[in-house]
Amino acid sequence: MIYTIYLYNSKSLLFFYKEHFSLLYTLEINNVITQYQCRLGQCGLCKLRLLTGKIKYFKIPTIFIQKNEILPCVCVPITNIIIQM
Ligand code: FES
Repeated sequence: MIYTIYLYNSKSLLFFYKEHFSLLYTLEINNVITQYQCRLGQCGLCKLRLLTGKIKYFKIPTIFIQKNEILPCVCVPITNIIIQM
C-alpha cells in the first residue's frame, strides 16, 4: 500500500511505501530535514503535528505528546496524511 504524505509547510508531496521502516525514514530519503536523536520514541525531538489522516505506532512512545502530535521515528501512516513540521 502506498500512502501520500503532504508536507503542509513546504507544500510538497511524498510517498510512503510499505518497505519504509518509519515515517522518519520516508522524510530522510526525501531529504526533508527534521531533528531526531533516539529514534525510539523516547526523546521527542522528531515530534511533528498531524493535521489530517491516521498513523499507527509500531513502538509505543515513552514520552508525553499532545493529541495532534506524532513521533515519526516510531510510526507509519495508515491513511494519506498531512503533517506540519
Ligand atoms: S527521535 Fe527521539 S522520539 Fe523520535
